[in-house]
Amino acid sequence: MKLFIDSANLEHIREMADLGILAGVTTNPSLMAKEGKDVTSVLREIASLVDGPISGEVISLKADEMVEEGRHIAALHPNMVVKIPMIPEGIKAVKQLTEEGIRTNVTLVFTLSQALLACNAGATYISPFVGRLDDIQFDGIGLIEEIRDMIDVFGFNAEIISASIRNTKHIQDSIRAGAHIATVPYEILKKAFNHPLTDSGLKAFLEDHQKAFGK
Ligand code: E4P
Repeated sequence: MKLFIDSANLEHIREMADLGILAGVTTNPSLMAKEGKDVTSVLREIASLVDGPISGEVISLKADEMVEEGRHIAALHPNMVVKIPMIPEGIKAVKQLTEEGIRTNVTLVFTLSQALLACNAGATYISPFVGRLDDIQFDGIGLIEEIRDMIDVFGFNAEIISASIRNTKHIQDSIRAGAHIATVPYEILKKAFNHPLTDSGLKAFLEDHQKAFGK
């Protein structure tokens, strides 16, 4: 499973990219708003930091306007992917952008039927929101499993981006459920590195080395 970072913060993206773990980036309007910078420049900057799919989200609600926005986003860099909300006008826009050879990421997916609609319109990526489903006591990871089965059985080309990741267990469960990608916030990516046994093990190794060989 590939790892994306779910962020529009350039320092955070740079830090994780430097560690060599990132295959792509997803943004959304809320993440962009948090940074308070020009969206187009931020997307360009991100594309210079990470060599992989970068999702930039449209804010229009009409298909033709989404397509216009999508063309603008796609023209920013060859790695750009247009993120489109899972609404009828969005699905119409996905179909059009797909015909133009522009990659799409259908976001705010909460059911198997929504994923089916996105697949049929030709979506490149589908983003089920695991954490937000868990919040309302639905089975977010279960949805990932169902979508993966559907993609495999019917031979759709879409890849699943496990989104709205809230903890490191969501990352691990996404692997088991068959997500192709997980898009993970910075703080949770950092946590994924840690284990107390790694720290105590390393300390003991270095102390043993020091005792035997000195500095
Ligand atoms: C997906 O691409 C979204 O940006 C994201 O994962 C939203 O998750 P949230 O529930 O943490 O806002």
